[in-house]
Amino acid sequence: MSQVMRMNNIVEWADDLVFTHTGEHLDDLQQDILREVFQGKKYARIAQNRSVTEGHVRDVASQLWKILSEALGENIRKSNVRSTMERLHYSNVSHFGKDFVQHIGDVNFCPDASKNPKPAQNRTKQPQIDLGTAPEITRFYGRTEELETLKNWIINDRTSLIFLLGLPGIGKTTLAVKLIETIKPEFDRIIYYSLQFSPPLTATLTHLLQFLTDSEDIPQDIETQYQKLRECLQRDRTFIILDDLQALFAPQTLSGHYKPNLENYRTFWTLLQKMIGKSHILLIGDEKPREFVEWDRQQNRTQILELKGLGNAATQILQAEGLSDDECWEKLCDRYQNHPLWLQWVSRLIRDFFQGNVRQFLEHEILLIDPLQEQYDRQFKRLSDLEQELLQAIAAYPQPISLETLLQRRSHSPSHILNAIQSLKRRLWLQTVTEEQTISFSIAKIIRAYLSTVKLTS
Ligand SMILES: Nc1ncnc2c1ncn2[C@@H]1O[C@H](COP(=O)(O)OP(=O)(O)O)[C@@H](O)[C@H]1O
Ligand SMILES: [Mg+2]
Repeated sequence: MSQVMRMNNIVEWADDLVFTHTGEHLDDLQQDILREVFQGKKYARIAQNRSVTEGHVRDVASQLWKILSEALGENIRKSNVRSTMERLHYSNVSHFGKDFVQHIGDVNFCPDASKNPKPAQNRTKQPQIDLGTAPEITRFYGRTEELETLKNWIINDRTSLIFLLGLPGIGKTTLAVKLIETIKPEFDRIIYYSLQFSPPLTATLTHLLQFLTDSEDIPQDIETQYQKLRECLQRDRTFIILDDLQALFAPQTLSGHYKPNLENYRTFWTLLQKMIGKSHILLIGDEKPREFVEWDRQQNRTQILELKGLGNAATQILQAEGLSDDECWEKLCDRYQNHPLWLQWVSRLIRDFFQGNVRQFLEHEILLIDPLQEQYDRQFKRLSDLEQELLQAIAAYPQPISLETLLQRRSHSPSHILNAIQSLKRRLWLQTVTEEQTISFSIAKIIRAYLSTVKLTS
């Protein structure tokens, strides 16, 4: 028998087995994975051929090994799937998948009860997933700890509402997509939805409900929508990710003020927290909503994770970008706070102007590259006048400046100043330094560099 025929036989047999066991046939990807793993291909390669992520293939495969293990009553892994299935299939096995009677030699016997097929309603179910506009992850470095923390909060602590906070480009969305890959077996339904175009609340609810109820026809009355959402969240184990919350906030005012027609999101978060049931919500944004601070942190119901740079893993970005002088990589990563997107930008610049030579680049005191300047321009414009003024004042001092000093400014009342400082903190512009019981504020080097350019132009 040819190699291909042998393999097709086994795939067909596996399909039969799985069908008997779960009531569902293998889908195309599962069949391909089986074939290609038989040929010794790596998950990365299988993923590449089908333009899906390696993580996705890995997840589908591990699910497949689990189903096959249950159906065959043997522990199936990637490394032994071929040998085990060949052995079982060709060692006088007939109709194994069809009636679960194994003929070995002349003796007929039924596999023991644990190996019997489960009834269809108990079968291992894949969650339904709607990733919407979430990006495909092609590279993913580091973040082991953050993933672990999030998984732990969700699975062990049953934290219902989590806020993932961090600078634009720091890797929030990427981390969320990765998180979905790793925790999806825990859920019935998972939906990712970006609020980047500032949708009204009813539009968001309609979108969520269409997915959660498998129906296009969603009532537009907000009370009914809440009611339905509550039912869904309590019925199914649902994981909802709402990204780009910052798009809901009004510019040129203190942080956390919603745009005029989006005020009702504020109430929504509070209601959501009460209706979550066995579901979990991950909110993602560049600034912390004010009401989140007040929410009940008792019993681990809510948590905030502030995402910082990639740490040591950041150098892998430089490697992937094909830069040279690896002895200087740490210095470059340090200069750009291990920020993945900034490092991608600067890598491109180093390739274009320094032939990928990191040492040459570092010889110059370049910090504020063009896309970074643009990013900060966009964010700076969103600040209130007082916030902008305070930042300039803080940037004027080389050392951290104390709260006391800031409050003494005559131009505004102390309470206005305090509110503005709080807002800047929620927006991640300020770092707090506490020394001998006095609180001072400082700003990152990059922000300092940015503010010096604003001074020149305004
Ligand atoms: N852990 C990571 N490993 C590799 N690249 C990353 C990682 N996190 C983010 N990136 C890259 O950085 C860029 C910005 O990430 P993204 O998740 O969109 O940031 P955010 O959602 O915080 O704005 C993307 O190009 C992404 O591929
Ligand atoms: Mg994002």
